[in-house]
Amino acid sequence: MNSAALQRMRTRRTSRRPYLDRRVPDDVIRSVQNIAAESGYRLKHTGDPEHVRQIVRINQETLFADLENDDVHAEILAWLRYSHDEAKQTGDGLSAETMFLPGRLLKFCMQHRRMWTLPVIGNLVRKIYLNTMRGVHEMAWLEGKFEKPQDFIEAGRTFMRVWLELHRHGVVIHPFGTVITNPKSHQQFSKLVDAHEQDGNFAWMLFRLGYSKYPPQAFRRPGEAMVISEVS
Ligand SMILES: Cc1cc2nc3c(=O)[nH]c(=O)nc-3n(C[C@H](O)[C@H](O)[C@H](O)COP(=O)(O)O)c2cc1C
Repeated sequence: MNSAALQRMRTRRTSRRPYLDRRVPDDVIRSVQNIAAESGYRLKHTGDPEHVRQIVRINQETLFADLENDDVHAEILAWLRYSHDEAKQTGDGLSAETMFLPGRLLKFCMQHRRMWTLPVIGNLVRKIYLNTMRGVHEMAWLEGKFEKPQDFIEAGRTFMRVWLELHRHGVVIHPFGTVITNPKSHQQFSKLVDAHEQDGNFAWMLFRLGYSKYPPQAFRRPGEAMVISEVS
């Protein structure tokens, strides 16, 4: 990897900020479509306001629905980092800072998740969350073979190539992975965009894209902490 590519790898960040009122140029979309096509995938893109609005709604509803599931709720609780210092110290997890949610509010809501269903508090939390989606005018998703472990690895590689190319052009993204993995949400999304999902094909990644101020850092563990080595 040359030094410019390494630099892009190091500086790429998920942006959950509101996006600026500026469209991604067609030639940038074409360049990432070509990258996807080189690995046999299709990158699709929409700027249709109704599609965008519906996908933002599905994503928000997924967030709330997933938390109703006890196992998912327990897992997410273990990974939430409510303050900058906590996120920095653990070097992992989902930090309130990167999601633009006040840590205390997030903690309270996560510990009293039934309150989300109450009219006033539920609406307030929904409003705070949706406020971070301001300025979103475009969505993109990736479709193609997604059946065997080799497909999953190739999909991951392709997604990272796409992400780094967008980053090279100053475009930020926010993956909506939970819309893909929640079966009900996936079906709603797939029907809305008429995704091609027959014969082992799957719409395996969805993300919002655009421009924003540089997002806060999601802290990471050092490389050696991610490698399991056996000493005989
Ligand atoms: C496959 C995949 C799915 C993801 N799904 C979501 C998601 O549903 N919601 C979200 O806020 N971020 C999602 N992300 C973004 C990750 O949470 C993010 O990459 C991670 O927190 C590290 O932050 P960074 O991208 O700024 O380095 C996803 C990332 C990947 C690779």
